[in-house]
Amino acid sequence: EKKLTPFEAIGEDTLNRLVDAFYGLVAQHPDLAPIFPNQFTEIARKQKQFMTQYLGGPPLYTEEHGHPMMRARHLPFPVTPTRATAWLACMKQAMDQINLQGSLRDEFYYRLTLTAQHMINTPDEGE
Ligand code: HEM
Repeated sequence: EKKLTPFEAIGEDTLNRLVDAFYGLVAQHPDLAPIFPNQFTEIARKQKQFMTQYLGGPPLYTEEHGHPMMRARHLPFPVTPTRATAWLACMKQAMDQINLQGSLRDEFYYRLTLTAQHMINTPDEGE
């Protein structure tokens, strides 16, 4: 019995729906929208590739863009503690919207809290 990767367990279709729901929320979030481009097509495409490999699926992101180096790729953007919290809130809401539940959700979300923490590169205003 081969254990499924989280990617296989979640499935490509659900992952795509999650990413689309997520950027729909980011686009409307007052703390996040200003640092993102107006068009979410390309970032959603990259995020689907990244999350596929992050969850143990094929290395689609690396094949097209090279080593993820996610912290380095975020350095041009001011990722504050407030924005990390907002990012995670949008992710939680997106998981609710697509009805992703159970241990799969909990483990995925927990990993994202660690990665989001790692992306912080700028203090909040006035700190
Ligand atoms: C790119 C913000 C956390 C994955 C970006 C971009 C911004 C951003 C502004 C660039 C958009 C553009 O192309 O102009 C944030 C903020 C975060 C956060 C505020 C809060 C902590 C994360 C996390 C992950 C992630 C936790 C992964 C689990 C990505 C990916 C890209 C990206 C894959 C595309 C990189 C590329 O251009 O190849 N993010 N991000 N981000 N982010 Fe984040």
